[in-house]
Amino acid sequence: MTTTDQAGASRAGEPEAGTLEAELERLLSVESFDPPAGFTRRRPVEADAAAAAADPVAFWADKARELLDWDTPFTTVLNDANPPFYKWFEDGELNISANCLDRHVAAGRGDRVAFHWAGEEGERRAVTYADLLDETQRLANGLRSLGVGRGDVVGIFLPMIPQVAAAMLACARIGAVHNVVFGGFAPSAVKERMEVSDAKVLITVDGARRKGRTAPVKAAVDAEMGDLKSLERIVVVEAVGAAALGGARAPMTPGRDVWYEELVAAADPVCPPEPMSAEAPLFILYSSGSTAKPKGILHTTGGYLLGATYTYQTVFDIDPESDVYWCSADVGWITGHSYIIYGPLSSGATSVMYEGAPDYPDFDVWWKLIDEYKVTVFYTAPTAIRACMKWGAQYPDRHDLSSLRLLGTVGEPINPKAWLWYHKVIGGGRCPIVDTWWQTETGAIMISPIPGVTATKPGSATRPLPGITPALLTEDGQPLTEGTGVLVITQPWPSMLRTLYKDDERFVKTYFSRFGPTTYLVGDAARVDADGYFWIIGRIDDVINVSGHRLSTAEVESAIVAHEAVAEAAVVAQADEQTGQAIVAFVTLAGGRAGDDATVAELRDHVATRIGKLARPKRIIWAEDLPKTRSGKIMRRLLRDVAEGRALGDVTTLRDPTVMAALAAKIAEAG
Ligand code: PRX
Repeated sequence: MTTTDQAGASRAGEPEAGTLEAELERLLSVESFDPPAGFTRRRPVEADAAAAAADPVAFWADKARELLDWDTPFTTVLNDANPPFYKWFEDGELNISANCLDRHVAAGRGDRVAFHWAGEEGERRAVTYADLLDETQRLANGLRSLGVGRGDVVGIFLPMIPQVAAAMLACARIGAVHNVVFGGFAPSAVKERMEVSDAKVLITVDGARRKGRTAPVKAAVDAEMGDLKSLERIVVVEAVGAAALGGARAPMTPGRDVWYEELVAAADPVCPPEPMSAEAPLFILYSSGSTAKPKGILHTTGGYLLGATYTYQTVFDIDPESDVYWCSADVGWITGHSYIIYGPLSSGATSVMYEGAPDYPDFDVWWKLIDEYKVTVFYTAPTAIRACMKWGAQYPDRHDLSSLRLLGTVGEPINPKAWLWYHKVIGGGRCPIVDTWWQTETGAIMISPIPGVTATKPGSATRPLPGITPALLTEDGQPLTEGTGVLVITQPWPSMLRTLYKDDERFVKTYFSRFGPTTYLVGDAARVDADGYFWIIGRIDDVINVSGHRLSTAEVESAIVAHEAVAEAAVVAQADEQTGQAIVAFVTLAGGRAGDDATVAELRDHVATRIGKLARPKRIIWAEDLPKTRSGKIMRRLLRDVAEGRALGDVTTLRDPTVMAALAAKIAEAG
């Protein structure tokens, strides 16, 4: 690569000619990028858009027959008799683990690598489809021996190790419902998610490594989970061993806890896949909404797998014979579910799975892995790209990235500068970039360029995929063809969430009440330009997107007020160059106490223990009082204004209009 690592500024504010910085500045004026000339699609897509436009239901039925193996073919495609409770392929039966494993092994591809696993201390392990099928069957039988059956919920709290794939697939094999919790969440958040989902079994790990340190996960889980009645058994993967845990193996409670390795070794190696109804629940994934209570988003079997498989193959243009794919997300998020596990495995693809952080042991570890495994398709988050940009192009420049042919992003809007850096420095100018817009609720990518077909504009997720019908509405529900509005989806799609676990009422209220039972309310605002391209602006609810991670203001507030020193708290988002948005907390201490640096640190730690490090406020602002309406509602809009240094708007509706002036003065004083 011929990029220069650092931009030198020759004159004030102007990058030196010939530098990377100057090139990026120049490219900022380019509005639209045609598909790179050297990019040739491996999978045909030409017919899809027309077929989907002519008859979306027939289109999905054709794709479901083409891409998935059914034990019992479906005869009905979409049942829309009772919106918003849609059903897809409801009389069909299939098993997801059979689609992800058995069919590839049966076709003679058992030796193909499913995952090239890379550990953070340089360990390497190749897991083939045959290996994964063997482990999945054994674990499925092991789970059965612990009393897990159809419909039972199994919690999974594991780091990025191959066992996480086996755990998810073993559940799918026997019809159990998995509930994966992101490894970065605190054990108390895991407990909450186990409790609300009535999980019967939890699969976790003895310890997790992160940047050379080992966290004693099992001990921490024990401290939280002790009194949880529904949780009958805990299965523990021995991933790090006694030495890493200070000399003793993880604590095990006799009768309740069992080692994963022993369970798998003792189990019958053959476990035929259960034929599951297409509408049988596959997993619950908790995500943040407008209240402190996380939403248990429920996905089912047939439609979800179809969405994950079709979009994986279409958007990433995967040829399983030749591509090596890597998605850097964590399996605990929807991106990991759909594009580390289900989409790739159902397609028989080869992926990289990496356990570690992007900056350990050095800032070039990702690029080293891309070079080592000759990764062809790479999918990551804008926040990671911005971090890499900050570290500098010298790190990718140390490695040969010429194997890359396609790049993707997900999770938050990407700023054009980061897009261009990704395009130039990582993609060498030759790789299309797919900016994929979707959500936990949508199950699969909804709006994205089709590489090799769609011209891209930095910052826009471009156009909907075939069979997906997003639209913009005004606040009062009038359709908009251009301009800014509220994003909705007007027709059901196979991989849509089916409900919120055990809370149909909240499901209807959250997504299908504002514009009626057939219009899905996304929760994002968006703009559509004259070419019909979608530009996602951000959330319209009280959800904050920090580094592509969804957090609810209410959840963080309730964690803060649980601290004994706190009387009241209000949390808002502030734009942040690095993380997209950052959390700002306005806090009133009890008894008129004044805040100091030690209290800031204490509150941040407190939030980390209750939710996880990702939810720690970046700024804490001490407030003697918070701006409230006469009815007592906190006006977060005003707090966002002061946090971002904007002029204060209308404060006359406040019970005490002087509160805002006091806060603004305080912020100005703090600089
Ligand atoms: O606001 C949108 C943003 O992330 C939200 C969904 O978050 P989550 O359910 O955690 O799923 C993230 C991974 C799919 C959306 O409502 N978002 C996601 N992708 C993009 C995005 N915003 C802009 N551009 C994207 N490509």
